[in-house]
Amino acid sequence: MHKLQLKFIFFLCILYTSLFTISNSAEKTELLEQDWSFKGITGKFDRAALQRGYQVYTEVCASCHSMRLLSYRNLGEEGGPEFSLDQVKAIAANFEVEDGPNEDGEMFSRPGRPSDKFVSPYPNIQAATAANGGAYPPDMSVLVKSRKGGADYIYSVLMGYEDPPANIQLDEGVYYNKYMEGKKIKMSNPLSEGIVTYQDGTLASESQMAKDVTTFLTWAAEPTLEQRHKMGVRVIIFLIIFTILIYFSMRRLWSDIDPEK
Ligand code: HEC
Repeated sequence: MHKLQLKFIFFLCILYTSLFTISNSAEKTELLEQDWSFKGITGKFDRAALQRGYQVYTEVCASCHSMRLLSYRNLGEEGGPEFSLDQVKAIAANFEVEDGPNEDGEMFSRPGRPSDKFVSPYPNIQAATAANGGAYPPDMSVLVKSRKGGADYIYSVLMGYEDPPANIQLDEGVYYNKYMEGKKIKMSNPLSEGIVTYQDGTLASESQMAKDVTTFLTWAAEPTLEQRHKMGVRVIIFLIIFTILIYFSMRRLWSDIDPEK
């Protein structure tokens, strides 16, 4: 290869690495980074955390935030919280679902079934906004994916409530939160120690609940994460074996070519 070409490639490598480091460090200094079990190429969800996270979502967040893309049956599927079928049926049956029309042309409500979508707390965005002081509690189905920083960002917002500095005046219904844009949020701190009671005996501290619900929301936004990781590992193993095979067949094919000639 030409020397100039080599220099150019070298220059590009340096450029990419520095850009990558800069963009990463900008995020890192800001957010509270957690050692998530689902991080990295072999990362998996912690089933118990997913089940606890669902409990936090449904008992705390679901009164304001919808999750319209999820169905109750998803809670029993492989790669998710993996509740048993009976548990999923019982969970769904706790909700009132509007159905119909019946023979008389009227809508009626009935207990939820696993095939139903998660029931939303408000009939529409306007109602949700009006009930929350003019701020819309975003739908949480894919929130983790739609925010820069993903899981770390959600966790940070939940743990980021503080008393405002003396020079900042907050209007009624506005709270100080380091990790929101503008450091203001129209959601009061939803978590306080013991607000839920975990059945597996885990202490429901604020950070524990924040971690669990964030894990649950990450799965909701990317339910096929575990399959994707498995496939990634397989592809890498395949490529390694393939490279070794290619190497030996090259040696064989070119074995009678004398490099000295
Ligand atoms: C009383 C209603 C209410 C409850 C309960 C509630 N939220 Fe919120 N949440 C809101 C509102 C309203 C906003 C929009 C705030 C804004 O834009 O200033 C919000 C915003 C958020 C955001 C910021 C999203 C963004 O735009 O970046 C996150 C993250 C969040 N909520 C997570 C949760 C979690 C997790 C729970 C449950 C533990 C929860 N919320 C419970 C009303 C609520």
